[in-house]
Amino acid sequence: MPLNDLTTPALLLDVDILDRNLASMQERANHLRVALRPHIKTHKSPEIARRQIGHGARGLTVSTLWEAQQFAAAGFDDLTWALPLPPVYARQAVALAERMTLRLLVDSPEALDALGAEARRTGARPRVWLKVDCGAHRAGVDPASAAALDMARRIADGPFVFEGILTHAGQSYNATNRPELAAIAAHERDVMVSFAEHLRGNGIAVPGISIGSTPTMRTVDRLDGITEIRPGNYAFFDLTQAELGVCDVANCAVTVLASVISHRSGSDIVITDAGALALSEDRGAVHLGRTRGMGRVYRNYAEKDLFPETELEIRSLSQEHGTLSVHADGPWRVGERIRILEHHSCLTAAQFDRYTVVRGEEIIDAWPILRGRT
Ligand SMILES: Cc1ncc(COP(=O)(O)O)c(C=O)c1O
Repeated sequence: MPLNDLTTPALLLDVDILDRNLASMQERANHLRVALRPHIKTHKSPEIARRQIGHGARGLTVSTLWEAQQFAAAGFDDLTWALPLPPVYARQAVALAERMTLRLLVDSPEALDALGAEARRTGARPRVWLKVDCGAHRAGVDPASAAALDMARRIADGPFVFEGILTHAGQSYNATNRPELAAIAAHERDVMVSFAEHLRGNGIAVPGISIGSTPTMRTVDRLDGITEIRPGNYAFFDLTQAELGVCDVANCAVTVLASVISHRSGSDIVITDAGALALSEDRGAVHLGRTRGMGRVYRNYAEKDLFPETELEIRSLSQEHGTLSVHADGPWRVGERIRILEHHSCLTAAQFDRYTVVRGEEIIDAWPILRGRT
């Protein structure tokens, strides 16, 4: 089917760019001598996960138990659920871990208590990782605190397999320039290596040290002491990563195809069918002030050329409407197509049921997106 016949809004995945992105992060992991365990929350696609494993990834990372169940059913038998365990899931998580390698994350005595109770009830020994805060201040124990050492000791002495410590430098998305990003990447590594040494000095074995966000893993120069990395967004990249300087627009694999659905003659307002339920309302790296609108529109996709926002700005989104402010030439007739580069590919992909897989202007496949919940 030609791209022009596709109903909109549609999520387009450029397979050649995807494959280049997957190969390039795997090469980086090999060069840095760490295992790559990609976060599949970005794509939620068994097809893409298979490609990642094909490139050399060792296991996957998921963000919900539902994702773990779906990917286990699709044949992936080594998963890390990289969210602090909600105690209410202890029973289901231990049950799934009986059938495969499922690695669980905790950062609280409450979650550990719930998991310990389930382990004792079933005789299982869940694999546990301790979540550490390396500066994002979202979740994780403060590695300098006595509570962190105490949690590690409780895991090591409990009915668990203590597999290691894990962090995610979410603060990398607030960096304002390349040197700042490099400093955050080095900090992510150094905090974890010295916390592991601290635990080892206290008699606790720490086999694994898992780190990684896309911005830090694209920037870091060495990873001595680290065992694995878990970037996810790198599979697609997006406008935010391009603004941060982590990639070029040419590396962005996912775009949204939309139709003009309303335009009054003489008006500079043009309405499309890509609203918030297509693009998501993520505004990306707002602190950099590089993009005002809700994504950017391609002037020429083949040349990866975006309209300057002075000519075309995605001014606002409502549920199913996108409002563009247009000062560029063009008929802007109802039925015209535009291609949009979204701020945040993970959230955009999560709005759709499938990828329309394309090579150039040709549609070559459709891959489902597993985006449900328990
Ligand atoms: C715990 C954890 N690990 C890894 C990642 C992947 O990071 P990125 O999306 O920057 O690739 C995320 C993303 O939110 C995360 O929360």
